[in-house]
Amino acid sequence: MPTIDNGHYRQTNADKQSGFTGRLRAYELSPIPWFVMQIRRVFSTCTNLRLFRANFLKVPIRGETKAVICYLHSEVLERVRPKLERELAPGTLFVSNVFEVPGWIPEAVHKIDCSFCPQVYVYRVPAKVV
Ligand SMILES: C[S@@+](CC[C@H](N)C(=O)[O-])C[C@H]1O[C@@H](n2cnc3c(N)ncnc32)[C@H](O)[C@@H]1O
Repeated sequence: MPTIDNGHYRQTNADKQSGFTGRLRAYELSPIPWFVMQIRRVFSTCTNLRLFRANFLKVPIRGETKAVICYLHSEVLERVRPKLERELAPGTLFVSNVFEVPGWIPEAVHKIDCSFCPQVYVYRVPAKVV
């Protein structure tokens, strides 16, 4: 599965073999990280990625979204969570680099041998409470 964390896109061999052709949209609020994303984009072989300087909280999530991947601190994830619950279909894959989503229970936690990203939390958007 491709991963995207505020513009850090990595295409795995499995993606290439599977012929992954989905569209990827990445959002970054601050100018300097956004500029770094643009530089990385130039050297990326990824052709299906669009980068936006925007507040993710204010961008409507598209209906066809199959997965969302974030690299946000838990305080921000706490504000993002209601949006995800409102706008994503229950069961949609949500992956958080490094930080837990307060109030959600992960489906899996993958430990990684990396000082910048020692773990990745894998979630499914919970069913809506009526
Ligand atoms: C943990 S840092 C990740 C930094 C860098 N983008 C990276 O991947 O190494 C979190 C980043 O999320 C951005 N951010 C925070 N709130 C955001 C929001 N509502 N919409 C878009 N980006 C946001 C911050 O500007 C910051 O650059």
